[in-house]
Amino acid sequence: MQTHRYRSSQVFLHWATFLLVAVLVSLPYADEFYRSMLGSRRNVMTLHKSLGILVLLLTVARLLVRWRTPRPAQANVPLDHAARAGHYLLYAVLLAMPVSGLVFNSKPLDLFWLVQLPPLPVSEDARQLARQFHLVAQYLFLALVAGHAGFALWHHYVRKERVLATMSFGGARQ
Ligand code: HEM
Ligand code: HEM
Repeated sequence: MQTHRYRSSQVFLHWATFLLVAVLVSLPYADEFYRSMLGSRRNVMTLHKSLGILVLLLTVARLLVRWRTPRPAQANVPLDHAARAGHYLLYAVLLAMPVSGLVFNSKPLDLFWLVQLPPLPVSEDARQLARQFHLVAQYLFLALVAGHAGFALWHHYVRKERVLATMSFGGARQ
């Protein structure tokens, strides 16, 4: 059955991921600012890594919910196919960024300062490759997110279509 909006669990997971990604990407870039709050570069990166692992878990949960839920129908079929392809790419990078981070991480990771995860047992070559990937793929990720948000706003403000409403809180699911 076709539906007109995303489930509230999907809406929650979408916007929670957005907030977490915004904070975790800003951490390595605004390192000095965060260091004044968290005390050291190590703590700044511990928070970056912990939030990255949380994003990985939320993305797996999202994919499980999505697999069991029909996607809201859109009126414009070619644009809808393009949007769907873009969403698959977004999911791919949402998984690949934290996984590559985990692979290249070489020190024990203090997950939210609560639990210590040992580094994965991988070769030094694999670590270097994963680091290169992490540092390069961030640009693909940021470009995809910018394009995705841009299209959502274009649909809303220029084409006056209710795509944004499918991913907003409130209202019964039809
Ligand atoms: C959605 C998840 C993630 C995103 C979007 C992400 C994104 C980024 C970005 C934008 C940078 C800055 C790169 C630069 O300075 O040019 C970075 C650096 C880094 N990330 Fe992630 N990251 C994620 C998850 C993780 C995870 C799970 C780990 C480790 C367990 C991790 C470890 C690191 C480390 C150690 C650096 C510093 C790299 C260096 O300067 O050598 N990241 N990440
Ligand atoms: C880190 C940032 C973001 C990521 C990773 C992300 C990811 C995604 C993904 C993967 C989907 C597909 C959902 C599905 O069908 O399972 C989606 C849908 C959607 N997102 Fe985002 N999103 C982000 C930010 C935004 C922003 C800033 C906006 C609004 C300006 C937005 C608006 C939407 C809308 C309206 C949909 C539904 C589109 C449709 O079904 O055609 N997203 N997002």
